[in-house]
Amino acid sequence: MTQERITTLLTENRSYLPPEHGKSSAWISGTEEARAICQRALEDPDDFWAARATQLIHWYKRWDKVLEADDAKHKYRWFTNAKLNASYNCIDRHIISGRRNKAALIWQGEKEMDVRCFTYQMLYTEVCRVAHALTSLHVKKGDRVALYMPMIPELVISMLACARIGAIHTAIFSGYAEGGVRSRIQDSKAKVVITADGVRRAGSIKPLKANLDPILEKCPSVAYVLVVQHAGVENVTMVKNRDIWWHDLVEDFTLDVDFPCASMDANDPLFLLHTSGSTGKPAGILHSTGGYLTYAAHTSQWIFDMRDDDVYWCTADMGWITGHTYGVYGPLSLGATTLMFEGVPTYPKPDRYWRIVEKFRVNILYTAPTVIRSLMRMGDDWPERYDLRTLRVLGSVGEPINPEAWEWFHNVIGAGELPIVDTWWQTEAGGAMISPFPYASKLKPGSASFPLPGIDAVVMGDAKKDGEDVSHENTKAGHLVIRKPWPGLMLGVYNDEEKYQSYFKRFGYFDSGDGAEIDEDGYFWILGRMDDNINVSGHRLSTAEIEAVLSKNQYVSEAAVVSMPHEIKGEAIYVYVVLKDGVEWTDDIRKALKDAIRKNIGALASPEYIQFVDNMPKTQSGKIIRRMLRKIAGNVYDDIGDTTTLAKPEVIDEIIHGHKNVIEGKPEMAKRYDEPEQEEAKPEAEAKEEKKA
Ligand code: PRX
Repeated sequence: MTQERITTLLTENRSYLPPEHGKSSAWISGTEEARAICQRALEDPDDFWAARATQLIHWYKRWDKVLEADDAKHKYRWFTNAKLNASYNCIDRHIISGRRNKAALIWQGEKEMDVRCFTYQMLYTEVCRVAHALTSLHVKKGDRVALYMPMIPELVISMLACARIGAIHTAIFSGYAEGGVRSRIQDSKAKVVITADGVRRAGSIKPLKANLDPILEKCPSVAYVLVVQHAGVENVTMVKNRDIWWHDLVEDFTLDVDFPCASMDANDPLFLLHTSGSTGKPAGILHSTGGYLTYAAHTSQWIFDMRDDDVYWCTADMGWITGHTYGVYGPLSLGATTLMFEGVPTYPKPDRYWRIVEKFRVNILYTAPTVIRSLMRMGDDWPERYDLRTLRVLGSVGEPINPEAWEWFHNVIGAGELPIVDTWWQTEAGGAMISPFPYASKLKPGSASFPLPGIDAVVMGDAKKDGEDVSHENTKAGHLVIRKPWPGLMLGVYNDEEKYQSYFKRFGYFDSGDGAEIDEDGYFWILGRMDDNINVSGHRLSTAEIEAVLSKNQYVSEAAVVSMPHEIKGEAIYVYVVLKDGVEWTDDIRKALKDAIRKNIGALASPEYIQFVDNMPKTQSGKIIRRMLRKIAGNVYDDIGDTTTLAKPEVIDEIIHGHKNVIEGKPEMAKRYDEPEQEEAKPEAEAKEEKKA
């Protein structure tokens, strides 16, 4: 589809009615019902959340208060003094309520024939054994256990085993490299790390355990490493008295020994998950047991219209919040069947997703715009080979979905009928905050539609402090702010109260860090991050974190990292670097900078371009104006802003000149900017002669 077509779609403001088929049996079956629920949640939030918590969660002891709010400190404690266990809610109660032999987890490995399926009974058995195994390694309630693992069932089993004990799991995406893994383990002070020999990535095997060993030299908190033998990596080094094979340890625990669930306070932490902060250091987002689980179950049920006989597939890696909430805790607390896939959508062929949908008769498919865009590019032949008729709800998350990708998902995958729930949320939120209901909302491609019940989302103006609410001024962009707490809101930022408070500093309410616009029908349009986070292929990265890595290079004087638009990834990374005086640009330096990012953060943070510049655009006080750099990186040369306030306005032309060369693949032309030679004014007659010649 061409750019023209995309623009047409946007200006046409197309909308789609919810499907009639399936509506009558849906959890939320019409606009009026959705509206009434939102109204109820707004008028009496305590009553609303108490009802949802009662319907969805098994509590050992009921709460004293639904919400204890300390607005001055922005501390919100849900279901105070209530007791529950997340593992019990995700497994045990389903066994005694008739789902014992229902598939809880279906795993498709990267290899077609690698399939494992766990019924709720089987999941129970494995989780109990691993809980025993972890206890034998002295893991207790409140201890942190880091999970640096591929997408394998042992990852889910480990999460639920930690929850059973009351230990706090902290998953680390297996694509993170040394620096990213180390800082997360150090921050959490994990006692045990669970990992695997290696991870399969599109036909190759990447080591995990071998990556971990040098990292752990600087992680004194780690007493044990449990290693799953998964990818067949040979000669894995096992450190004596520290490293243990999963199969050796877990096998020691017999199949029929129950591991009693710890009785957890609703406000005991369930897990810790790091996300990109506004500094070089990732923020450890801490989620509660009671509020988080309630919110995960509540949103899973309503936004996906999850029913008992559905096969549900969230394609996100468990290393991200989406994997936690909608791959594990949401669907399993509802007793659903959740599917987990180890591989990537395009290997060995770009039909992998559609094959899986047909193979397991998937009903609900929740994925990311990047995936949709890359599969769309491969052509319609791939999905057309498969029977996708079991699908009934499609979902999107992680970044704005462009109308072109939305249309393709709806028409080609959804046969022109299926609703797409475009869910907006973030790690700090625990679950979706703005999303349609599949059978109740009229959809506009590219809009996440309306705030969910109990989510008081508004758009606020750009005032320095206490910005005013501009929600009602249609199409006025601003900061997306949530004014009331909701049960999924993080408990805090691990060991960083200042960071936690920073979310509330500007508006006195939770500032999502995103920009949004509300149209004349009340639909929310997410405009992307307004802080220094970048969203590459749905992965949230901090520019400050990348800049910190670049600045460590001995030749670098200054670095500025900004986003640039990218057709598939949504956003990509563009880097500007000023080298130290007297240092000449070389390809080796560029390579060293790329390698440093790959090593310290991971391949996902790899820059698209690195441009060497002589000067950065700076204010008189010496502050780099990234806004202007972002415009240039996005080819917007004619709307840079007021350059007269810059200390050296001429740097903008230099940088534009360099940028043009860099994107044309001529970085050598960009390293130094030469003033274009001014042609001397020639006498008119001479000039005419030259022209004729
Ligand atoms: O900018 C928003 C974008 O992803 C950010 C949150 O990233 P993370 O904490 O990693 O969680 C991702 C999965 C929930 C948000 O601040 N984002 C997420 N969903 C959407 C989105 N942007 C637009 N539309 C969405 N549906």
